[in-house]
Amino acid sequence: MSGELRGPKGTYDVLPPASATWLAVREALLGPARRAGYGYVEPPVFEDVELFARGVGASTDIVAKEMFVFTDRGGRSLALRPEGTAGVLRALLQGRLHTGPLPVKTWYAGPMFRAERPQAGRFRQFQQVGVEAVGLDDPALDAEVVALAAQGFAAVGLTGVRLLLTSLGDAACRPAYRERLQGFLAGLDLDEETRRRAAVNPLRVLDDKRPEVQAQLGGAPLPPDHLCDACRAHHDAVRESLADLGVAWSDAPRLVRGLDYYTRTTFELVHDGLGAQSAVGGGGRYDGLAETLGGPPLPGIGWALGVERTLLAAEAEGVAPAADGALDLVVVPIGGAGSAPKRLGVRTADALRRAGLSATVVFGDRGLKGAMKAADRSGARHALVVGERDLAEGVAQLKDLTTGEQRAVPLDDLVTRLTEELRP
Ligand code: HAM
Repeated sequence: MSGELRGPKGTYDVLPPASATWLAVREALLGPARRAGYGYVEPPVFEDVELFARGVGASTDIVAKEMFVFTDRGGRSLALRPEGTAGVLRALLQGRLHTGPLPVKTWYAGPMFRAERPQAGRFRQFQQVGVEAVGLDDPALDAEVVALAAQGFAAVGLTGVRLLLTSLGDAACRPAYRERLQGFLAGLDLDEETRRRAAVNPLRVLDDKRPEVQAQLGGAPLPPDHLCDACRAHHDAVRESLADLGVAWSDAPRLVRGLDYYTRTTFELVHDGLGAQSAVGGGGRYDGLAETLGGPPLPGIGWALGVERTLLAAEAEGVAPAADGALDLVVVPIGGAGSAPKRLGVRTADALRRAGLSATVVFGDRGLKGAMKAADRSGARHALVVGERDLAEGVAQLKDLTTGEQRAVPLDDLVTRLTEELRP
């Protein structure tokens, strides 16, 4: 074998310094949920393949075409998780959290895997942040969950995220609606594969992007127009509560999602600056999912937001979430291995870190010019230059790297002085 190895198709590396913004986006998106009492959950990144077949739906593209499936050495069929909801719910059920106070409110963040055709904003390993609130079907909870997503994007600084909202009905009204839709679709001029889709999952046909299909769907019956009384009341209450919270949305009666577990409240967040992959987030209620996974009846609602697309949207809007990666101090010892400046410099950085500041050292044996260049590149706010001559005089030089101002600080109580001076 020869040649430089590269990362797998559809993946990317999160590298410094850009990783600071990546982390800041993730934090910003999740901040509102964390302040609302959601607790951290971390299920494994691989699960029994059946979890997704049953949970997400065997006929969905995600499960049928996009899962990374493998067999372990014990012959078990496993899949890298294509999404988080099924695994989180399995974990909550297995941990019996549903027998405690409800709702169980959780957040998560991590990589998801889908073998899609890579393009701008579409990766095979991508990063989601998400929340799942399980155990109640209170419409006010739906509104909280939806509002937290909108507030997450606002915390990133985005203003161009639009919320699309619909209701897909539930086990009581969906079957009759489905039949009605199938009846409508039967009268259309559709190709063989689309007919098959209409038989298995007719709602998916509403989402068909091809103009020749869309042109025929004008008069299609739509889910929100065929809700039972309970679903209608729920939907009205969610919208009322969203209005109370000052969250703006558009009713999107044609919205259909690529996962089969949704019931009632269903939503997507889109950004117009992204081209084809405009969905920056999505979610909804999944009141039948726990039972599908072999658990008790347990309603739930949640969302997942895509970190990469959020970063693209931030770029498109020219906003950057504050990435607090800057170091307080870089120590610049002028002297080689074992020299007094080097030893004092390394000790000082260590002591400052113990005192709660952030500090680094310019390593390697360089001249003053090279060392100052390295200090400038470190991103630190201040530099502490330690040279033999200064040491002999009992001082070191503290330089503000933004203004260029420099002054001597006595070596006595150096750490205490610096801590007082530099503590943010
Ligand atoms: P989803 O709509 O499949 O929902 O994914 C949520 C978000 O993940 C998308 O809006 C998009 O921003 C991002 N995303 C999806 N696929 C890719 C990809 N290949 N590359 C980059 N970003 C991607 C779910 O996953 C549900 N589990 C959401 C949910 C939680 N529903 C209820 N609870």
